[in-house]
Amino acid sequence: MKILVVNGPNLNMLGIREPEVYGSMTLNNICEKVRAKAENYGMEIEFYQSNHEGHIVDKIQEAYGRTDYLIINPAALTHYSIALRDAILATGIKTIEVHLSNVYSREEFRKKSVISDIALGQITGFGYHGYLLAIEFIQRKKQEEI
Ligand code: DQA
Repeated sequence: MKILVVNGPNLNMLGIREPEVYGSMTLNNICEKVRAKAENYGMEIEFYQSNHEGHIVDKIQEAYGRTDYLIINPAALTHYSIALRDAILATGIKTIEVHLSNVYSREEFRKKSVISDIALGQITGFGYHGYLLAIEFIQRKKQEEI
C-alpha cells in the first residue's frame, strides 16, 4: 500500500502561520505523526510540500501508476486550481482531501472546493487529526478487501 501526502502553499509555515486557526504544530511534527501511524499499518508513505501549483501537478503525475492513495491538503489551491483537479482526474489516483481548519466556518470563498466532488471524501476542521483519520480510512478499506 503506497500513499502520497501532498501539502500545498503556505503549509510549510505551520507553527508560525495563524496558530489560532491552524494549531501550533509544524508540518514536520504532523508528518512524523502521520508516518508513524502509516508505518504501523505497514504502509509505504511519502510526503511532499510545495508552494507552486505546477510542481504539485508534476508530483501527482509522477505518482501515476505508483501510488494507491493521495492524501492532499491543497491549501489555497483547493478553491481555484483546475490544474490540480485535472491532474487528479488524469491520474485517477484515489484522493482524500484534508483541511486543518473547518473551511465551512470561515470566509465564503473557502466553502468552494474544486476537488471535493472528485475526491473520495473531504475531512475538514479536525486539525492534524484529519491526516490520521485519512490513514485510518485507508487501513479500514484495505481490511475490507481482504
Ligand atoms: C486550509 C484551508 C485553506 O482555505 C487555506 O487556504 C489553507 C489551509 C486548511 O488546511 O485549513 O492554506 O487548506
